[in-house]
Amino acid sequence: MSTAKWHAIEQLLPRYDLGLTAPGPLVAGSTVDIGLRPTLLEIGLRPTLLDIGFGMGDATAEMAAREPDLDVIACEPHLAGVANLCRLLVDGGIENVRIHPGDALDVLDALADGSLVGVRAFFPDPWPRNRHHIKRLVQPSFETVTARVLASGGIVHLATDVADYALQMASVFTTWTPVLPPSRPMTKFERIGREAGRTIVDLAFTTRLSGLGHA
Ligand SMILES: C[S@@+](CC[C@H](N)C(=O)[O-])C[C@H]1O[C@@H](n2cnc3c(N)ncnc32)[C@H](O)[C@@H]1O
Repeated sequence: MSTAKWHAIEQLLPRYDLGLTAPGPLVAGSTVDIGLRPTLLEIGLRPTLLDIGFGMGDATAEMAAREPDLDVIACEPHLAGVANLCRLLVDGGIENVRIHPGDALDVLDALADGSLVGVRAFFPDPWPRNRHHIKRLVQPSFETVTARVLASGGIVHLATDVADYALQMASVFTTWTPVLPPSRPMTKFERIGREAGRTIVDLAFTTRLSGLGHA
C-alpha cells in the first residue's frame, strides 16, 4: 500500500471508524465512540443502511453524498479501499458514513433487531468454484441475520455479474418480496464485468411478505 494510503489510515480512519471493537449489541439510540470525531454516531436514531464490501468506495461515497439523511455503515476489510474511501469522504465533505474496516458479519451480529432500513452488497466475491460456494456472502445464514436486523419494509439490494450467484441470491431470498432495485452508480467491479461482456443482475427484496398480511 502506498505511503499516502497508510497516511489516510492513520490520520483519517479514526475520524470515520465505526469503533466496533468491543463485543456487545449496538442497540437503537446507542452511541459509539468514534475517536477524534466531535459527534457520535447514533445508531438507529436516523435511518441507517449497511453497505457490505465497498471495494474502493467510489459508489459508497457517491450514494452517501446523494442521501445525506441516511447514515451508512460501510464495511470493507481491504485497507487500500478503506484508505480510498476515507479520502473520498474528506474531499467530498461527506459526514454520514462510518467505516468498519473488517468483516460485515461482525457488524450484522452486533446490530439490534430491526435497526436498519437497508442492506446492500454490490458484486460480492463470486467464489466461482462449486466447492467454494459455501464461502459466498449471500447464503441462508445471511438471509437469517438480514431478516433480523432489517426493520419492517427494509430492503436488501444485491448486484452480481455471476449468473449462478444471481440464482443463489434469488433462492436465498425466495420468501421475500422482490422490489425494483434502487438506482446506484456503476462500481469498479461492475465495470470490469461489463468490459468482459458479463450480464449485470440487480436484485432487491423487502421484508414484507406479499399477500400474507405480514408487517
Ligand atoms: C468483488 S469486490 C466488489 C467491490 C465493490 N463492491 C465493487 O463493486 O467494486 C468484493 C469486496 O467485498 C469485500 N468483502 C468480502 N467479504 C466481506 C465481508 N465479509 N465483509 C465486508 N467486505 C467483504 C472484499 O474485500 C472485496 O473488496
